[in-house]
Order: sequence, then structure tokens, then C-alpha cells
Amino acid sequence: MEARAPKKLFIKSFGCQMNVYDATRMADVLAPEGYEETAQPEQADLIVLNTCHIRERASEKVFSELGKLRELKEDRKARGQTTRIAVAGCVAQAEGAEILRKQRAVDLVVGPQNYHRLPDLVRESFMAPVVDTEFPVEDKFDYLTPPSEEKIRERGVSAFLTVQEGCDKFCTFCVVPYTRGAEVSRPAAKIVAEAEALARAGVREITLLGQNVDAYHGMGEDGATWSLARLLRRLARIEGVLRLRFTTSHPNDMTDDLIEAFADLPALMPFLHLPVQSGSDAILRAMNRGHGARDYTSLIEKIRRARPDLALSSDFIVGFPGETEADFQATLDLIAEVRFASNFSFKYSPRPGTPGAELADQVDEAVKTERLHRLQALVESQRQHFNASLVGRITPVLFEKPGRHEGQVAGKSPYLQPVQIDGSVDLIGREVLVEIMRCGSNSLFGRLVETPERAI
Ligand code: 5AD
Ligand code: SF4
Repeated sequence: MEARAPKKLFIKSFGCQMNVYDATRMADVLAPEGYEETAQPEQADLIVLNTCHIRERASEKVFSELGKLRELKEDRKARGQTTRIAVAGCVAQAEGAEILRKQRAVDLVVGPQNYHRLPDLVRESFMAPVVDTEFPVEDKFDYLTPPSEEKIRERGVSAFLTVQEGCDKFCTFCVVPYTRGAEVSRPAAKIVAEAEALARAGVREITLLGQNVDAYHGMGEDGATWSLARLLRRLARIEGVLRLRFTTSHPNDMTDDLIEAFADLPALMPFLHLPVQSGSDAILRAMNRGHGARDYTSLIEKIRRARPDLALSSDFIVGFPGETEADFQATLDLIAEVRFASNFSFKYSPRPGTPGAELADQVDEAVKTERLHRLQALVESQRQHFNASLVGRITPVLFEKPGRHEGQVAGKSPYLQPVQIDGSVDLIGREVLVEIMRCGSNSLFGRLVETPERAI
């Protein structure tokens, strides 16, 4: 075999967790080509910007970043070093060859469905700039190199695993159905094999990812179609898997069997991210969400009956076209009723090619800003209240890394709150009961309770 000199790879991801997962898979597929990851872009022979197209600000970041990278490429060239610049992710999918026109320093544009072709595309890019944004017939996951056990260990005890991609819902504000394409679920056997490999290498928490993860309907190990609930039940049986999560979901796909899974799968964490976007029926209709505000609140009641210790987070958009003060107030009312432990909230950003962008009654930017502040103040007070409610309670913590100071170790509560305790790094990878003593603005601080960990 030809010996290859190590080359350096720098990947910068924007946007959602799916991009974080994709970045690891890109690094894995490039590893056999001799690429080693670096945190320093100026040392990199190959730079990948893994982009997000969801809001205007996210897309704009890509081009300002590319401007900086062009200078870096020129500096390296002056030192006799070549640099390939690749644009991956959803901006690559949406804009394709247009990116080459806007920024000539780019050598390669690759859409999310083509990462398995990266080694070939990088080679081709030495001849001329390359664009690959086709939706290929083959399944990229069949061709993506699995990570080495050592790589998995380096990445820590908590891992992402994509089980479903794409979306058929076509909410009128959203570019995802266009950039990530139609809904596709991976076969359960492949997911189980990947989860087993993660667990063997010390992963203790797996977050299943999908743009519409609760719509999962993949081929099961028995040949039947499996729901997400069925998949979760199977994954919970894997030795070493202590915690399971899934994100992101749509309310209309929260089926009864998934709700039951919350009731009787202890490994499924009692924390659900369930975007509602708005509390106004008129706006939800205009967004083509397919549900009203009451549907959402009764669904939450039902899930809470199944899992009383459940906490929630959600996504909200303020200032969708036509949103009146009364519509916005309905969103605040919904938030007050449901109570959220955290949230992601955004000003509506018209995206080219989506129906929302064509609507006449766009909301003034200043109004959007003011509404966003009010909404965030409300959810922030709920978040603080939720954090404070854990003080004095005993909660399992999965330890992930050394703490901020010598002699401390840090982990996560079931609700993804960072928890610090005085303790040994030997706790990393173990789930142990901790009494929460106090809470800061983001972290909880606790002490180890003398109770044995859950057996692995
Ligand atoms: N403007 C603002 N927010 C958006 N989101 C998606 N598209 C837009 C847009 N055009 C938000 C939604 C979604 C989250 C991932 O991003 O709240 O749930
Ligand atoms: Fe976008 Fe989610 Fe709506 Fe699909 S369900 S169109 S991903 S917001």
C-alpha cells in the first residue's frame, strides 16, 4: 500500500446537531485518505465549512467566513502550501455552483447527501472546482467509513446517531424540505450496529437525530416497518447504553407508542424537545403546521401523564407574516400554560423559495425584536425556576469530562443541565446519583450520594 503523508483537516460546523454528527462522519470518511483533524485552520490542507441555511443570518455567516478563509489560503500559498476549501451542508445544497461564483477561493461544494464521495471530490478538485449536490440513488450511509474505536473514545461518552433525514411537512417558513429532501429512515439493523459499536467504545448516551425523528419508519430487524418507539426499545437493550434521547420531533408524529415508551423505558430521558413555533391557531395554520395550539397543549398533558418527571423544550418563531399582537400574546399564553425548561426562539427570517417569504404582511423588524425579547424573558424565568427546582433533589448524573477546576468532574442531568461535583475523573462514563446543592445561571452544583451507580 502506498504510504501517505498525514494531511490536516479543519471542519467548522454551523447550525443543528445533525451538522455536528455529519462533521464526525466527514472526518471518518477522510481519515483513510490520511487526513487528521486539527483545531487550527491555518494548519489545514483541507478546510470544510459545514453550513446552515435555516435563517438568513446563518447563511450570511458562511460568506463572511469564506472571505477570511480566502486570505488564509493566500497566506498559505505564499508559504508554498496548498489549501482546499470545501463548502458542505445546507447552503451548499441550496446554492450549489452559485457559491463558486460568489467566492472564487472555494474549490468544492458538496451537499449533505454526498459526503461519502468526499475523497473522490477532493481529488477531483485539484483539477478544477467541483460541485456535487445531486440526491444520489445510493444510500450515503452504506458508503461512509465507520469511525475507529479510538475516534469514538476521543469524542466522549455522549454521541449523536442520525436515524432519519429530510422532511415532508413543508412548514411555510422552512427550507429543510428543499435542502435535506424527502423523509428517509435508515434501516434499524444499521442503526443497531452503529449503536453497538458506540457502546463498545464507551458511549453511554445516544441521541437519535432526524429533522423529523419521531416520523421514523425504518425497516426493522424482522423485516417489518419499525416506529421510533420500537427502535428505542431495541436500542435500550444494548449493553452499556444508559441514556437515550431523540431530536427533533413534530407534534403530529408523537404517536401513542412513543408516549408509552416515555412511560416504561427508563433509559429514555424525561426531556423532550417538541417545537410548537406559535401559540396562535391562525399563525399555525399559515405556517402549515397541521395542528392547533390546543392539540399541542393536550398532547403535552398526555405525555406528562405518561412521564410525570418530563421537562420540555421548544422552538418558537416570532413575527411570522401576519402575526398580530394578539397572536403573539397567544404564544406567551401557551408558554405560561406549558412551562418550558429551555427553548430556542427566533425572529422569522424569510427564506428564498419558501411560501412564507412570498406573503405580503411581513412584520416589521423592530416589532420582531421586541417580541423576541418578551418571549425570551418569559422562557428564561421558567428555565431559572426549573433549575432552582432541582436544588435539594437527588438526580442521576452521567459524567462526561473533568470539571472546570482541579478535583472536579462534570456531567449532565437527565435534563441536559451541566452538573459539577468535587470528584474523581474515574466517574467519567458512569451514571451516579448526585444531590444538587445549588444552581448557578447555567450549571448545577452537587455532591455524590453514597448510592451505587446503575449497573452497566
Ligand atoms: N425563520 C426563523 N426561524 C426558523 N426556523 C426554521 N425556519 C425559520 C425561519 N425561516 C426555526 C424553527 C425550527 C428551528 C430549527 O428553526 O423554529 O424549529
Ligand atoms: Fe422544517 Fe421541521 Fe416543518 Fe419539516 S417539520 S418543514 S424540518 S420546521
